[in-house]
Amino acid sequence: MSAAVLEQGEDAFRKIFRFYRRKNPPADLSGVLEFRPGESRLKPVELRVSAVSDQDAGLLGLQPLHQWSAYHVDGYPGFLFIVNPFLPGWQHRWVRQCLKVYPRKPNVCNLDLHMNLDSASDLWSSSHAQLRNRSSQKRSEKTLLEKLRWVTVGFHYNWETKKYYREHQSPFPVDLAELSRCVSLACGFPSFKAEAGILNYYHMDSSLGIHVDESELDHSSPLLSFSFGQSSIFLLGGLSREIAPTPMMMHSGDIMVMSGASRLLYHAVPRILRHPRGSALPPCLSVPPCNNDSSPVIEPCSPSDWEVCKSYLQSSRINMTVRQVLEEGGSFPEEGDTHGREMTKEDSYYSEDNETQGTEEQGLTKRMKTEEQD
Ligand code: OGA
Ligand code: MN
Repeated sequence: MSAAVLEQGEDAFRKIFRFYRRKNPPADLSGVLEFRPGESRLKPVELRVSAVSDQDAGLLGLQPLHQWSAYHVDGYPGFLFIVNPFLPGWQHRWVRQCLKVYPRKPNVCNLDLHMNLDSASDLWSSSHAQLRNRSSQKRSEKTLLEKLRWVTVGFHYNWETKKYYREHQSPFPVDLAELSRCVSLACGFPSFKAEAGILNYYHMDSSLGIHVDESELDHSSPLLSFSFGQSSIFLLGGLSREIAPTPMMMHSGDIMVMSGASRLLYHAVPRILRHPRGSALPPCLSVPPCNNDSSPVIEPCSPSDWEVCKSYLQSSRINMTVRQVLEEGGSFPEEGDTHGREMTKEDSYYSEDNETQGTEEQGLTKRMKTEEQD
């Protein structure tokens, strides 16, 4: 079947999702949009290059803004794609944060429900030795880090109610807020506030189901997405699932911005693609971590931490999405029953053992699947 041949009235998105999710035989990837010059569906974007100084960009591990390549895609106003703008050796720092720092308390992750807080608070120390010493061929038991599927920061997304709550938040990581601020300034959104982050951790069989990110109360603000590790196919659709999506290739370091008319479009990640040709990691991650430049914003990644990250990334992809939840000066609505009421500790995500177990599974199976199912 060709991805383009569809019968009328079918859920066009689902059909294409299944086409790209297929592993055997592998799907024909020739229709997947690659973000490179000369591609007829792309239009280069003029970024606000003076909005962030070269020095400030450098402290986040980003190239000077005038060196970034950014594109609009025909038919998707408000969608922006920035081709890996990170300096060599600096994506490593963000990967380390995602694996070593952001999963720690008080942030929330899928494993909280299955273990006591002590071990959940240190996924890294329970996994690093095993990951560092693993030979790539050897099949061994999964480390806790490899069981990590999502982390939420800032306002914690509730997978069951699909809402955010004023009472359920932890501080938004300062470094990620700075990175988000830089990207939003470059793209012309100076008032963007990073208030909620969902980090997704994918392995080779993972996919992210078809969805719209509409739980945020302010849809006039963009949604930022940062990808690291193995490449993936991203499907960007329309306002209905009847509209066939455009398949796009996302590589390590790439940044996507969904804003304006593209903010509420259906999208999904049907497939993670292992890096071909010899090396297990893409070239931008095959260089050693940059350790000679210090930054007051983001901690360096030591060579030994990088050994762990490298082993993890051989068969994984990490995606960080950053959202503004409230409109400027806005607050959460005071509503009758569920989400307007003050939550007590007992009501909160951690404590409702039976329900949250179900919640987490629901959130996971709906959004992110790790087995071939279709
Ligand atoms: C999300 C999302 C896309 C990705 O977390 O809502 O759409 O590339 N992520 O992982
Ligand atoms: Mn999404």
